[in-house]
Amino acid sequence: MTSPFRRPLVIGNWKMHTTVRAAAGLARELRPLVPPLPDREVAVAPPFTALSAVGALLEGSPIRLAAQDLFWEDEGAYTGEVSGPMLKETGVEYVILGHSERRIYLSESDLAVSRKAQAALRAGLTPVVCVGEDQMARDAGRAQQVVRDQLLRSMEDLPGAEADRLVVAYEPVWAIGTGRSASPADAAEMHALIRLEIEARFPAGKAERIRILYGGSVTEQNVDALMARPEVDGVLVGGASLRAREFARIASYGVPRWGDS
Ligand code: PGA
Repeated sequence: MTSPFRRPLVIGNWKMHTTVRAAAGLARELRPLVPPLPDREVAVAPPFTALSAVGALLEGSPIRLAAQDLFWEDEGAYTGEVSGPMLKETGVEYVILGHSERRIYLSESDLAVSRKAQAALRAGLTPVVCVGEDQMARDAGRAQQVVRDQLLRSMEDLPGAEADRLVVAYEPVWAIGTGRSASPADAAEMHALIRLEIEARFPAGKAERIRILYGGSVTEQNVDALMARPEVDGVLVGGASLRAREFARIASYGVPRWGDS
């Protein structure tokens, strides 16, 4: 059971998968499988090109729309970028920021992530800021230090008054796409550390409202054990979110055998 201040959140990150046609197919398949469950929020993050189509297909359903990135300026000569107001207009409610794939392949820095998080808040979007150590850092016993540094720098200059709208996703790099999830105990330990850091950084009463998600090889098999930890306020799902039935089961964690036929 998570805190009464934090509604659990399940996000499916479709990454650079699905053409518009395939995304529409996945959304159509998913819609009837995800039941309205008022105790949680469920969202999918298709590629930019498919946001409008997926948004239209999911309208009126319990599944909300997320984006995978945005740019830190609201408008201007920034070729190739997409802004917060553009996403908002498209019906997007959440935006994933600083995913390790962007940090690795596009050298996205903590400073960039912090500017993007501010832009998201400005646009009325919920920023989902990703942090997580790689295998080398974990092996060297530096996991906590790396996560702490990333977190504090990625939250720099975030206005304290709006801090409770922030979502943090702990995604150990070694667990992403590997089938090797962090154990619920390890995830819980890191989440507790993240919350302590957040508490120290923001005005009283804000930290207890910030949701901390776990991501990295979440499946229908391990979601219940992860969500049973009070420190885990939701999950960010990659690979499994591309399979409608499996994502629906993950989103229905704690509800026995939903979708079984
Ligand atoms: P995965 O990806 O579930 O495929 O491990 C998680 C993520 O990158 O958000």
